[in-house]
Amino acid sequence: MNTARVNTAVFPVAGRGTRFLPATKASPKEMLPVVDKPLIQYAVEEALSAGATKLVFITGPSKRSIEDHFDSAPELEAALLEQGKHELLAVLRSIVPASATCIYIRQPAPLGLGHAVLCARPVVGDEPFFVHLADDLIDSTVPCLQQMAAIHRVHGGSVLGVQTVERKDTDKYGIVAVDAVTDTVSRVKHMVEKPKPADAPSTLAVVGRYLLSPLVFNKLEKIGRGAGGEIQLTDGIAALLLEDPVYAYAFEGKRYDCGNKLGYLEATVDYALKHPQLGKDFQAWLRARLS
Ligand code: UTP
Repeated sequence: MNTARVNTAVFPVAGRGTRFLPATKASPKEMLPVVDKPLIQYAVEEALSAGATKLVFITGPSKRSIEDHFDSAPELEAALLEQGKHELLAVLRSIVPASATCIYIRQPAPLGLGHAVLCARPVVGDEPFFVHLADDLIDSTVPCLQQMAAIHRVHGGSVLGVQTVERKDTDKYGIVAVDAVTDTVSRVKHMVEKPKPADAPSTLAVVGRYLLSPLVFNKLEKIGRGAGGEIQLTDGIAALLLEDPVYAYAFEGKRYDCGNKLGYLEATVDYALKHPQLGKDFQAWLRARLS
């Protein structure tokens, strides 16, 4: 059992984001803000809270603003300092702590999520690592990756964040067949990418949180193209689970699918309602608007 601390988080951000066109023509889906923070910053904060110090972004064309976001901004900082805007300056400087390192790897072509994860192999090495999909925003008491790291410390192996979806929606997700271990943890027996509702082995869907054994890289380099003609992470994990334990974990928290417009709007409204500065005024406005 390898239950060492998880140091590395991989953020695949090289997808085309076609469901959000034209907004995503020249700027990344992951930079869409939910109230005042881009999705990718929520993602990084979650990984940092789970103990990750190496942040690996798998990028592609039109993703430059992600690098800029996590870089220092000396001119902006100097201007804020001169204007006495110390709170904003602190916000800016806290985006990535000095103890963390950002690494950017270009995925040569968007060949699929499995291929994107494989691109991280040279910097992940032989250790378990997180994979975080920023467009799945999860609002929870304990950050989702932190919950998953705790499950990994107990059970070892790989851990997938799962939730139950409606049967009509199974063809949007990787779906797992499982044997229960505890109320929230089960052992994955089988996994399939985007099955039709009639063929799905269950309604337990993997959403964008993974804690993976490095053994998955050996599988990813061997599997070919799967559903949608892409190299699928699901297929790599399906091969992995034949030789190393993979657990499904029903995390605590509400998940917003910010890769589609409705989910993104729901997240925006809920995060605005609980925002420390905006919440009260927004709630009053929303009430009046709906009455
Ligand atoms: P999605 O399935 O959401 O695809 O990818 P997408 O391209 O981002 O968006 P749509 O469907 O066209 O609207 C899931 C995650 O995998 C990453 C995406 O950036 C997203 O975080 N991804 C996908 C890659 O990094 N590379 C790929 O080749 C494919």
